[in-house]
Amino acid sequence: MVKIAQILVAAGKGARFQGEIPKQYADLGGKPVLRHTLENLKSACLDADQYVIVHAEGDERIAKAIEGFDPAPKCVTGGATRSQSVQAGMAALSENAPDIVFIHDAARPFVSAKVITAMIEKLETVQAVAPVLSVVDAIKTFDDGNLGEDVERNGIKRIQTPQGFHYSDIWPAYQKMSGDENYSDDIAVARAADLSVGSVDGDEKTFKITYPEDLEKARSLLKEDNYYIATGSGFDVHRTEPGDSLWLCGVEIAAGFSLKGHSDADVGLHALTDAIYGALAEGDIGDHFPPTDAKWKGTESHVFLTHAKDLISARGGKLQHVDITLICERPKVKPHRDVMKARIAELLGLPVSRVSVKATTTEKLGFTGRGEGIAAQASATIKLPN
Ligand code: CTP
Ligand code: MG
Repeated sequence: MVKIAQILVAAGKGARFQGEIPKQYADLGGKPVLRHTLENLKSACLDADQYVIVHAEGDERIAKAIEGFDPAPKCVTGGATRSQSVQAGMAALSENAPDIVFIHDAARPFVSAKVITAMIEKLETVQAVAPVLSVVDAIKTFDDGNLGEDVERNGIKRIQTPQGFHYSDIWPAYQKMSGDENYSDDIAVARAADLSVGSVDGDEKTFKITYPEDLEKARSLLKEDNYYIATGSGFDVHRTEPGDSLWLCGVEIAAGFSLKGHSDADVGLHALTDAIYGALAEGDIGDHFPPTDAKWKGTESHVFLTHAKDLISARGGKLQHVDITLICERPKVKPHRDVMKARIAELLGLPVSRVSVKATTTEKLGFTGRGEGIAAQASATIKLPN
């Protein structure tokens, strides 16, 4: 099996970030940036040995950032420049030399496992590899506030980390480094040592936190990642009875008959309310509004639906879409459909484009076909925090 090590350089000062603490220790969703980087690198390469290059071993911030991380990464004191920090990591590795070493900026928390896998494969044919991204904006020279000549962007790529190397090739290259050289990245060190260099497609998500706005971008990306989509379904039936009108999807229809029920018997809103409870895994309408409780007698069904909607907010979720199917021969639903959609949209605070009301008959078959009752089914799609 190929032995892999990962070096995370985290000994920079973060001058451009201008934070109270170096950016690698800034809070990102309740954890330091560095902790995310460690975790994401580990899950991309479960067997890798991890080395974190820090300002000073025993630093309290690093101790907090790696607390409880199992197995604990080795901490090594870095240098004044990034290249010197990498060099210190390379030296520490020599006691337990890996086949492949990945060198990564701790300030890039969102590592792509796919990119790492592609690099391991690429290293079968080259000595060094980097993830690259194309340049989409126009590029021009800039001097003393003045825009200058166009630079041909087709011949230019943006380079990310992690960058991967055969340790037996890159370690001698770093050993030769005297300390004064200023390499922009580790591929530059590899090129100076005439190593063969390959590339794989990078991932925009692996951007580097350099300025304060980059941390904001990381925070919003993390929020997006922290949600899951839940779908719930609901079904309900109410018996028909003599009367003048009935309620369907929040709209009163003069159908020439009624629906029997403890509440207003709005079969459409009941199915929809249950669909929302289903997506939240919070029981059903009977749990929240027991029919045995006289207090709910004659209740208008929008009360139930509003309760379900409020539960979504209480869970920090966001309703995305609802879909209802009414199953009956009569009344004809189509003439009322737009009003029903508008009413449901209003009750749920959704745009009408995210509310669907459909209807079908059962070809005169069964209880709905005989007009003995009306059935409804519904689904609700909700985005919920993990
Ligand atoms: N780095 C390091 N040792 C240094 C300088 C940088 O380990 N002497 C690390 C940083 O901690 C960072 C990565 O190299 O994870 C990329 O460097 P950069 O984004 O330039 O970070 P800083 O040097 O900290 O930031 P700045 O240049 O704005 O001061
Ligand atoms: Mg720097």
